[in-house]
Amino acid sequence: MKSIEWLGNALRILDQSKLPVETVYRDALSYEDVAEAIEHMEVRGAPAIGAAAAYGFALGAQGYQGNIEGLPGYMEVVQDRLGATRPTAVNLFWALRRMEDRLRECREVKDLAEVRQILIEEADHIAEDDRRVNGLIGEYGNEIIPEKANILTHCNAGALATVEYGTALGVIRKANETGKTIHVYADETRPLLQGARLTTMELMQDKIPVTLIADNMAGYLMQQGKVDLVIVGADRIAANGDTANKIGTYSLAVLAQAHAIPFYVAAPTSTIDLKVATGQEIPIEERPDKEMRECFGVQVAPAEVNVYNPAFDVTPAKYITGIITEKGIMTNPYSVNILKLMVRS
Ligand code: MRU
Repeated sequence: MKSIEWLGNALRILDQSKLPVETVYRDALSYEDVAEAIEHMEVRGAPAIGAAAAYGFALGAQGYQGNIEGLPGYMEVVQDRLGATRPTAVNLFWALRRMEDRLRECREVKDLAEVRQILIEEADHIAEDDRRVNGLIGEYGNEIIPEKANILTHCNAGALATVEYGTALGVIRKANETGKTIHVYADETRPLLQGARLTTMELMQDKIPVTLIADNMAGYLMQQGKVDLVIVGADRIAANGDTANKIGTYSLAVLAQAHAIPFYVAAPTSTIDLKVATGQEIPIEERPDKEMRECFGVQVAPAEVNVYNPAFDVTPAKYITGIITEKGIMTNPYSVNILKLMVRS
């Protein structure tokens, strides 16, 4: 199952909001279609959002009606719309900036069809890079996985959250592929149940043993010695290593430390935001109240109850045993080691 696929004139998006019950695709024909798919979380997960937005940018140029001189001004509107969809995952802004830079390099190209083609190729490169990078994260991450391990993960940082293979699930996949005996506990991840709906499905398709737990069960499992390590993905990593990821990640990290269990983050370097000094500066998305009062169309709380629904939290760097990237694994002090890693080719 591919999260996104470029069809030549449209972006095919697997609607993850309906999985695993229904497998439905949306063929996005315009940048507005892509923006809506990101907002409605039909495509979700930081790297997948980034790649989808890049194709959305390319679709913006496809739909442009005017002359070549007016294109840069129009593309600012496209970029603003795509950038306003979800605020936390920095991969979205990273990918849009890469597309913007590529457009700027085309200043001398006076043929609109050629510029459109160049932008599609750049989006293809972003998608291709994501595939390659996830393979490397899997390889580096596999170094820290014991021959036999019970691994706890949260939300979905798998193939569905990326272009292919996954970050946290990429590490788990690689460990499984290399013959290690892996068993995964998947947190269900309220309110949108990405763990229950998506992570379990992905792992079952790969025949990796998985047990679904409710989010509030993790501490009890750790206390019983049932978890050897925790691996999660990331939506934005600050320059000091503080990491924003799906709401509930912070609680897991604190619990892991209390039980002396290693806690790893797996993410591409495109998730590192050096412009953000600490996690306090990371914008945290708040989602609609409805997601809490209802569970997939079924009312589960009084219709008028007050709701607070932050989609992400920030895990301070001190709780993170290591950050697994495509350039290697970093440990504390992150402020120094992130800078060293970013300059490495
Ligand atoms: O709200 P979502 O489902 O987009 O949140 C996804 C996560 O928090 C993932 O862990 C993160 O994006 C990493 S995906 C490789």
